[in-house]
Amino acid sequence: MDIQTVGVIGAGQMGNGIAHVFALAGYDVVINDVSIENLEASKQIIEANIGRQVAKGKLTEAEQKAALDRIRTTSDIADLGPCDLVIEAATENEAIKHKIFETIAPHLAPHTILTSNTSSISITRLAAATDRPEKFMGFHFMNPVPVMQLVELIRGIATDDETYQTLKAVVAKLGKTSASAEDFPAFIVNRILMPMINEAVYTLYEGVGTVESIDTSLKLGANHPMGPLELADFIGLDTCLAIMNVLHEGLADTKYRPCPLLVKYVEAGWLGRKTKRGFYDYRGETPVPTR
Ligand code: CAA
Repeated sequence: MDIQTVGVIGAGQMGNGIAHVFALAGYDVVINDVSIENLEASKQIIEANIGRQVAKGKLTEAEQKAALDRIRTTSDIADLGPCDLVIEAATENEAIKHKIFETIAPHLAPHTILTSNTSSISITRLAAATDRPEKFMGFHFMNPVPVMQLVELIRGIATDDETYQTLKAVVAKLGKTSASAEDFPAFIVNRILMPMINEAVYTLYEGVGTVESIDTSLKLGANHPMGPLELADFIGLDTCLAIMNVLHEGLADTKYRPCPLLVKYVEAGWLGRKTKRGFYDYRGETPVPTR
């Protein structure tokens, strides 16, 4: 199936990144969000992020302008109905996602492929609540989307082969690499990454290391581009906790028990970079560890 128009639901970090890479690859993109504020900020954020690539000489200003011209925003989710492909990139909350699919369903064209950028929720369960489980898939981008090479493709039990092959070709057109994962809690990347981050929080909780020594250890001792606590702040501590809960509940194994210290940070509203405080305090010039 030929995809030309793409609807993105959610103008947060992931939705903006997804719109950015699709527009650069030549797709027409419509972004929808319930927050007018998010929608208004969205194009400026994308312009600034493409600007980084222009500053590095990787893209020209003409390419930046052409990509931005291919993006429009709307507060009415019905405007996404005629798109060939819709990507839901709202918060990691199953009830919210169900509500979104329920709202958009009557407006969707019969051929539209519906996907979720969920990082952990069952694709089969999300698909079952739509009118098109055979045209529904998990389409999981990594953060920051313009930089990260991987897209995870997750088929639900009913997803048909045409939908899978179409999305595989779309990933190739984006210049990215796909990896297929079976539909089990948190798929591949987060099944492995989140327990590592959770273990780093336990290491901090038990006093084995400080924020600084834990991050330095993994950066210099395992060649990770970011330490696990810095990465947790970057992803969002609420998202990390939500994924650990999905693993814990879905696989019923105590090895996935979220660290109480991670829970405490989330309860405090210290969610990482987006709230300017998490394992580091970002309110000053340079990040300062909070423990
Ligand atoms: N848009 C466009 N370009 C961007 C960008 C953005 N939003 N963010 C960074 N970049 C570019 C920069 O321009 C820079 O380009 P060059 O290589 O051409 O110089 C490059 O990315 C590196 O950026 P910086 O120099 O600013 O910073 P850095 O070298 O410290 O790298 C990083 C930043 C790429 C984020 C790196 O630290 C990294 O790879 N971190 C790990 C990220 C990671 O693990 N992501 C996965 C999270 S898990 C996930 O997403 C799944 C989930 O469901 C939770």
